[in-house]
Amino acid sequence: MNYKIALIPGDGIGPEVVAETVKVLEKVSQKYGHTFEYTEVLAGGCAIDATGACLPQETIDICKASDAVLLGAVGGWQWDTLPGDQRPERALLGLRKELGLFANLRPALLFDELADACPLKPEIVEGGLDLVVVRELTGGIYFGEKGFKDTDLGPAAYDVEQYAEEEVRRIAVVAFDMAMKRNKKVTSVDKANVLESSRLWRRVVAEVAKDYPEVALDNLYIDNATMQMVRYPKQFDVIVTSNIFGDILSDEASMITGSIGMLPSASLAKGNFGMYEPVHGSAPDIAKQNKANPMATILSGAMMLRYTFGLSEEAEAIEAAVKQILAEGYRTPDIYTDGKKAIGTKEAGDLIAAAI
Ligand code: NAD
Ligand code: IPM
Ligand code: MN
Repeated sequence: MNYKIALIPGDGIGPEVVAETVKVLEKVSQKYGHTFEYTEVLAGGCAIDATGACLPQETIDICKASDAVLLGAVGGWQWDTLPGDQRPERALLGLRKELGLFANLRPALLFDELADACPLKPEIVEGGLDLVVVRELTGGIYFGEKGFKDTDLGPAAYDVEQYAEEEVRRIAVVAFDMAMKRNKKVTSVDKANVLESSRLWRRVVAEVAKDYPEVALDNLYIDNATMQMVRYPKQFDVIVTSNIFGDILSDEASMITGSIGMLPSASLAKGNFGMYEPVHGSAPDIAKQNKANPMATILSGAMMLRYTFGLSEEAEAIEAAVKQILAEGYRTPDIYTDGKKAIGTKEAGDLIAAAI
């Protein structure tokens, strides 16, 4: 089969980790006889520099005409002083909205081989850790009304958190469907003791839960949930939450897996279309030094094969290759511990491709 992939390398370490993912996908294509057809497009700071706009219309059109999108990361200090609506990060938000990517899956899996890179005590993560954050991605405070106004205390700025019942219902359905294929537990995270939008969220999630009698539903407030994530993360199976709470909880979950450089994600629309990207950002502090861990992006590539192309055997081959090089002791700087074999971004890509 021939699959069309729009590639958005972006800024900082984005181009480095995307290049290694293409290397791995090319090995998959050779081994399994698929053709991946890549079209590279601009978004983020590099698009601002080249065209003046963070998300050129051509980028949106090419993404829409592709089967899936693979993105590195956007952003960097050069563009940090631009007005909010012109920043590189707006490109990401624009893509999510334009492509209808309302469901963001962020699996946090602690590979046994990385137990020593996890900052929690061994007994807390013994036997592994396997949870998925299902983050609502096109609503909430990221997309609510925003602006500036004068107040009694002087100039102010505001961002409105708002959720429609339908937005909550469709993300809850994704979470419960996922729980049915896993350990049949959903934890919904909100701030229903304070926020009206969270009370609506909790009510709608409970309604959806009625269609899934086999799934246990738990509700936690976000402050408690962030604490539980480090106290006893094994209690979680599927976490469903709002855009901003999911952003925060997934970075926290990533560290338990050893490094944010390990965490992949899938952003899905209705149907099979998806954009695949690591959970981490453009890491300007380590860009262009062959230091970035490409595994989060490579594992995002595996998610693309599984969720959009339906190639589960090929996806598993990539995941097994990552596991194999970790078992062989290879470590990028972010997960390096004494006695292991130090490698850089390119070597990681080469080794993973070779292991497939
Ligand atoms: P970040 O995730 O880029 O970096 C946080 C820390 O983690 C840094 O110390 C970095 O070196 C390290 N890190 C991140 N990815 C790594 C990897 N693959 N391997 C090894 N170490 C890694 O977050 P930040 O510093 O808050 O943000 C930097 C820029 O990225 C900002 O402009 C931000 O807006 C943007 N950002 C973009 C995305 C995205 O495009 N999806 C996501 C988050 C942040
Ligand atoms: C992420 C990022 C983005 C977000 C930013 C860069 C807009 O942090 O994908 O996690 O907050 O969603
Ligand atoms: Mn984030």
